[in-house]
Amino acid sequence: MSQAEPRIIVALDYPSEAAAWSLVEQLDPGMCRLKIGKEMFTRLGPAFVERVIGRGFDVFLDLKYHDIPNTVAAACDAAADLGVWMMNLHASGGRRMMETALERLARRGGRPLLIAVTILTSLSAEELAEIGFPGSPEENVRRLAALAQAAGLDGVVCSPREAAALRAERGADFLLVTPGVRPASASLDDQTRVMTPGDAIRAGASHLVVGRPITAAPDPLQALRAIDAEIRAAG
Ligand code: C5P
Repeated sequence: MSQAEPRIIVALDYPSEAAAWSLVEQLDPGMCRLKIGKEMFTRLGPAFVERVIGRGFDVFLDLKYHDIPNTVAAACDAAADLGVWMMNLHASGGRRMMETALERLARRGGRPLLIAVTILTSLSAEELAEIGFPGSPEENVRRLAALAQAAGLDGVVCSPREAAALRAERGADFLLVTPGVRPASASLDDQTRVMTPGDAIRAGASHLVVGRPITAAPDPLQALRAIDAEIRAAG
């Protein structure tokens, strides 16, 4: 992974465009990418995504598609039309859903990256069993990451705690995009099992999703620079 490539993806989780935009204007596209998720996309729509891309940022569109293969492939194609850098879907939609989406994207020159959500970190082993996924969350994550890789996807979203095992099993080129990252000095907010940015990179994360440690900082650019310095030192 090139040191020059921004490995921090700032989660743009805001209730309004004005609030989000005041952060966007303070950040540098050479230092970070931006993640737009379900709340902002549902409020502001594709025009907001295009506005952010127009400002020079790579956008990770975090809409976690999960539907029949043709519908997911069409949604991925629509996201690619917006010019996003990365998008995601649920690996539990199955191999054919992932392969169909990837085939549709591959028809384009220079397709966006497509990664999978394996198991939502909010789900306990009991809740997983209830929806028909026996085994521990970790076992399910590893199985679905293997399936995503077999379907040709570029990587997965995972907890930093899972990064070392997935890096060992899935090889050097598979993207591991990890939320749940907190600098040692930052508040945990509602995250429980966190890692520092340096530890997440050392564990094998390729990209870090960081929200409130940057978005809620008194000086977001300075917070971003500090995290960037920490991950550069980590390798
Ligand atoms: O503010 P914070 O750094 O906790 O934001 C993390 C971002 O990553 C949020 O957009 C959150 O929805 C997302 N996320 C997460 N944990 C997961 C999956 C996604 O925190 N397991």
